This record gives sequence, structure tokens and C-alpha cells, in this order.
Amino acid sequence: MNISIIGTGYVGLVTGACLASQGFNVMCCDMDTDKIEKLKNGLLSIYEPGLSELVNNCLQRDNLSFTSSIAETVAYSDVLFITVNTPVLEDNTCDSKYIDAAADEIASQIDSYKVIVNKSTVPVGTGRRIGTLISRVLAERGVKITFDIVSNPEFLREGSAINDFLNPDRIIVGANSTSARQILRKIYSFQLEKGIPLIESNIETAEMIKYASNTFLAAKISFINEISNICELCSADALTVARGTGLDKRIGAEFLEPGPGFGGSCFPKDIKTLSGLAAALSYDPIFINSVIEVNRRQKNRMIQKIESAAGPLDNKTITVLGLSFKADTDDVRESPSEAIIRELLEKKAIIKVYDPKAMEVMKKQNPGLRIMYCDNAYDACLDSECIILATGWNEFKKLDFKKLAKLVKKPVFMDLRNIYDPLLVRSYGFYYEGVGRI
Ligand code: NAD
Ligand code: UDX
Repeated sequence: MNISIIGTGYVGLVTGACLASQGFNVMCCDMDTDKIEKLKNGLLSIYEPGLSELVNNCLQRDNLSFTSSIAETVAYSDVLFITVNTPVLEDNTCDSKYIDAAADEIASQIDSYKVIVNKSTVPVGTGRRIGTLISRVLAERGVKITFDIVSNPEFLREGSAINDFLNPDRIIVGANSTSARQILRKIYSFQLEKGIPLIESNIETAEMIKYASNTFLAAKISFINEISNICELCSADALTVARGTGLDKRIGAEFLEPGPGFGGSCFPKDIKTLSGLAAALSYDPIFINSVIEVNRRQKNRMIQKIESAAGPLDNKTITVLGLSFKADTDDVRESPSEAIIRELLEKKAIIKVYDPKAMEVMKKQNPGLRIMYCDNAYDACLDSECIILATGWNEFKKLDFKKLAKLVKKPVFMDLRNIYDPLLVRSYGFYYEGVGRI
């Protein structure tokens, strides 16, 4: 079967490469011509573990191709996946211009039956709306072509995207047409044969499952961050509280790690969009809004903790280890680390940073940011008056504290990812603080 992918970012490229690795013929399209030219030569613009190898294997097998031509992509197959970005606007509404453009481009090119599968995260009602948009363009063209719309939300996480795509907890297919559902079952036969549950529903339900999932996960994080803040005030250890709580099967152990607040390209935007959607439906989403508010305050709390540990920040050299929003990705979108850096700069601190993968992306996306990029963690810590561990990269899990103690000007270690045993770090003469730790 031939499959087309429109939008070749984190989700589009992982989807395309994984489907090609399962034997489908896949063509990926993107309007970013630079990205496509690089991909044709096996070069990726993003870092995702294992993805470069997977893409290059498929290129060699000749069943994965790249193009900037929407006409070529639409002609290539009867199944078109849309995986374009869906950012949130200031007023908490989804900026639908990319998905609308993709739908419009498809509508002006199709000449036979197509299944149009939306994998982007979109407000409930979008599938139906783009269906109407496509029908209108077809009517303007004066052609009678049938098509089906499917909502197939994606749950992969950056950093473990390939495994998440191949072994998801469930597959969601929202479609009103039986033949479209059958085609999706064929596409996901690899996963379904392994016993991975399939939920079939109408389009709106599938769209809502995505928002409900992300909001619940983000709520778990805001919950544990709030608990950890209370722990700090009453000598309780938040990690042990999270373990003791998470072992209750009704609660579950995952997503209970206290930290600097959730970031990334999905949680912050999706939760705001759901809040905006509820408001547009005249519903006041107080729970969802408090998840957002706790997260906003958590970042401020990190600054307060840093200030109280390091003293006034004016002209102080501060090290930030980690720029990406989490480990194993170069993505800095809504990174707590970046938010902290901006606040520290406001307070006139001198910032030295190091990240194993995200420094180039950070430089490119923030050309004016006055920070010193260093070649490794130890260079970044030279003469530092406060080290902030902001991202939980493996590389930062084995720091040589004996060496660090000699390099720094003042031994202050703020472990915002709770990587270290406080006693161990203190034994090297450092002032240590985690999030919610004794
Ligand atoms: P991204 O920004 O990495 O990639 C989107 C790509 O689409 C870009 O390369 C852009 O140039 C391209 N594009 C936009 N409009 C286009 C058009 N009309 N024609 C061709 N190309 C076009 O985005 P992403 O992180 O892959 O996310 C895509 C969608 O998937 C979003 O809705 C997101 O919420 C959702 N999602 C993301 C993740 C994740 O971990 N990143 C996980 C699950 C779901
Ligand atoms: C998320 C969803 O998990 C995924 O299902 C969806 O498809 C896309 O959005 P992602 O943003 O890649 O994935 O990363 P995730 O691992 O969920 O982490 C999101 C943020 O929450 C990160 O900033 C991370 O550091 C933070 N986090 C996560 C915590 O602070 N504590 C936790 O216990 C878990």
C-alpha cells in the first residue's frame, strides 16, 4: 500500500519512517524545502534517537521518499496522513492555518477517492470542519470525488518516539465510514496483531481522547509538583511520597516526577487549547485552568529557590545544564530551562549553558539570547556560583563532583530533575536542593 504524509516534523517523519519500516511505500511532504532537500540525502533537521538510522535504512530500501510537491504527494496514494503543526494562539484558540492549508491543497489536487487521516492534535470539530472545507473546494472545482475523514491522534513522546509509535498503549480511529476504518486496520495490522487495543469511534470522540489524555498527564505533573511544594514546607520527601502514592494501581506510578513544570510542544499548547475550546462552549474549565496555573507558578518557584540558594543574582555566574524541554530530544519548544534562563537574565545574571544536543536549535531559535554556550558540562561550571541541572540527560547523571567542587566559585547545586541523592552531593561540600526533597 502507498501512504502519503503531509508535514514532516517530529510526528510526520516518525510516522513515515515507521510505516516504511513495516513495508509500506511512503512519501513524506513538507513545505519546508530545506528540510526536504536534507532528508533526500538522509540528513535530519531534528534529533530523535534511532530516527536517522531508520530513515536511512528505508531510503536504501527505496520505499521512503521525500518531496515538497503537494501534487506529487496527493497523486502518490489513496491514504493521506496530515501531521502538520497546530500551535495555540494568545487567546487559547488553535491556530488552524497549517491544517486548513493542507486540507485546501489536498482538495485542489485530488482526482480520486482518498482517505484523509488527521494525526495532528486539533480542537474537537476540526475533522468535520475540514471535511466541509474540502467539499466546498471540490464543488468550486466542479468535480464529484468522494473522500473520508479520519481522526487518528498520535501519542508518541519525543525521545522515545519510534518505540511509542510501534508499541502504543492503544490506537484511536475516529471515522464515520466503514471502509476508512478497514483501511486504518490494515495500516495498523503490525500493532493490532500484537494485541494492542483499537478504539473506534466517531471523529469528535477521537479528537477529544487526545486532549483528555494530554490534560490528564499534565494534571498528574501539576498535582505532584504541588504536593512536592507542600513537602518542602513540612520535611516530607516528595519522591518517596510519589512512589508510595503511585504504587496504588488506581493512581499509577508514571508521570509523578516533580520538576520545573511541564514543557514541550504538546502539553502547554494542548491544555490551553482545551481550555479555550471549553470557554468557547460557555463552560468554565476550572480544573484545567488550575493545571496551567500550577505549572506557571512552578517555573516562578524554581527562580525563588535559585535566588534563595544563590543570593542576589545580579552579575552572578550561573550554569544551566540542559536546554531541551526533556532529555533525549533537541526540542526547546516551551522548555522550562529556557523560561528559567530568561528570568535569570532579567535579574542580570551571567549565564553559561551546556546541552548535549539542543545548543544549535537554541542558538537558531533565540539568536539574541545573551548566554555563553560551552563545549561540555565542566566548562559550563567553571567559576559558577550556582549550577542548575535543568534537563535530565544521562550525561548529567554521572557528574564528577570532586572535579566540579574545584571548578566552581561557590558550591551550589540546584537539581531540578531530582537526579542525585542529596547526601552524595552534600558530601562534596555542595549546598544541594532538589524539588520536594529533604
Ligand atoms: P513540527 O512542527 O515538528 O512539524 C510540522 C511540519 O509540518 C513542519 O515541518 C511544517 O513545515 C510542516 N507543514 C505545515 N504546514 C504544512 C503544509 N500545509 N504542507 C506541508 N507541510 C506543512 O510538528 P510536530 O511536533 O510533528 O507536531 C505535529 C502535530 O502532531 C501537532 O498537531 C502536534 O500537536 C501533534 N503531536 C505532536 C507530538 C510531538 O511529540 N511532537 C506528539 C503527538 C502529537
Ligand atoms: C507528550 C505526551 O506524553 C505524548 O503522549 C504526546 O503525544 C505528546 O506530548 P512529550 O511532550 O514528548 O510527550 O514528552 P513527555 O515525556 O510527556 O513530557 C512532557 C513534559 O512533562 C516534559 O517537560 C517533562 O519533563 C515533563 N514531565 C514528565 C514531568 O515534569 N514529570 C513527569 O513525571 C513526566
